[in-house]
Amino acid sequence: MKRIVITGAGGQIGSELVTSLRERYGTEAVMATDIRPLPDAVSNDGPTAILDAQDYNAVAQTALAHKADTIFHLAAILSAVGEENPSKAYDINMGTLRSVLEVARQEKYSVFTPSSIAVFGPTSPKEKTPQNTVMRPTTMYGITKVAGELLCDYYHRKYGVDTRGVRYPGLISYGAPPGGGTTDWAVDIFFQAVEKNRYTCFLDKNTTLPMMYMPDAIEASIQLMEADPNRLVHRNAFNVTAMHLNPQTLANEIKQHLPNFTIEYKVDQHREAIAQSWPRTIDDRAAKHEWDWSPKYNLKSMTAEMITELSHSLN
Ligand code: NAD
Ligand code: SER
Repeated sequence: MKRIVITGAGGQIGSELVTSLRERYGTEAVMATDIRPLPDAVSNDGPTAILDAQDYNAVAQTALAHKADTIFHLAAILSAVGEENPSKAYDINMGTLRSVLEVARQEKYSVFTPSSIAVFGPTSPKEKTPQNTVMRPTTMYGITKVAGELLCDYYHRKYGVDTRGVRYPGLISYGAPPGGGTTDWAVDIFFQAVEKNRYTCFLDKNTTLPMMYMPDAIEASIQLMEADPNRLVHRNAFNVTAMHLNPQTLANEIKQHLPNFTIEYKVDQHREAIAQSWPRTIDDRAAKHEWDWSPKYNLKSMTAEMITELSHSLN
C-alpha cells in the first residue's frame, strides 16, 4: 500500500486523482495539498494541507509528517497562462519540481510528474509524433516540461529516484475547471453547449490536437506508477493519447446529442499559434508496450458521458 502526497491537488487533474487514489489506497493514505484552499469535495474527505511546493522545507515536513513514500506532483502553470507571465511559469514549474525531487532523493520516495504534448514544437513531426524526436518547444510551459523530463531522468539515473511520468494530451473533464491551457476549449465547449446551446471557440475549426477523457488520464497515471519498473525504458516521458480532435469534429459530435447547438469562431492568435506548434496526432506505442496502456474512451463514449454528467449538474 502506498502513502501519497499530491501537490496541486485542487486543479483539473488533482481534484479527480485524489478521489481515485483514496478509493484505491484508502482515504487516510492520500494527503491532498495545494497553494490555494482545496475544493470541498477534496477537503471534506481525507487529509489536506495548504502547501507551496516551491518551498523545499514545507514539502519535506508535509511528506515526513504524512509518512509518505510517493509524491504525485501536479502543481504547475499551464501553457496559455504561462505565456502571460513566462518568468513566473519558469519559477513555479521548475522550482516546485526541484523541491519535490530533492525531497524524494533524500527520503527515497517515488515521484509521478506529468509532462505534456507541449514538449514538442514547430519542428517536431506533426502526425504520429514519435516517442523520441525533435523537441524544440516555443512556449515557456513547453520549455519547463522538456527540462522537467530531463531532470526527472537525471534524478533516476544519478540518484536512483523512482521517477515516472506521461506526456498528457489535452484533457477533457466535467469536474474542476481547467487551469489556463491551450486545450481548455475542449472543456469549455461542453459547459457552454449544455448551458447555452452555443459556443464561441478561440481556436480555428480545423486545428487538431491529441486529447483524452479524464478517467483515462487518471487510470494512466495510477497504472504507470504501479507498473513493473523492469519494463520501463521511457520513465518520465511516455506519449499517451486517446483521440485527436478539432473544434469542428467535436461540435458535430455534440450536435448528435444537442441538435440545436451552434459554434462560431473568434480565433485568439496567441493560443492558435501555441496549438499550431503542437502535434496533431501522437504515437503512444511505447506506453502500450512498456506498461500496457490502453484508453477506454473514444470521441463517442466521452461525448455521451460529458453531456449526461453536465446535464445533471448544470440543469
Ligand atoms: P491546474 O492548473 O488545473 O492545476 C494546477 C494546480 O497547481 C492549481 O490548483 C494551483 O493552485 C496549483 N499550484 C500552482 N502553483 C503552486 C505552488 N507553487 N505550490 C502548490 N500548488 C501550486 O493544472 P492541471 O490541469 O491539473 O495539471 C496538472 C499537471 O498536469 C501539470 O503539470 C500540467 O502541466 C499537466 N498537464 C495537464 C494537462 C491538461 O490538459 N490539464 C495536459 C498536459 C499536462
Ligand atoms: N492542456 C495543456 C495546455 O493546454 C497541455 O499541457 O496547456
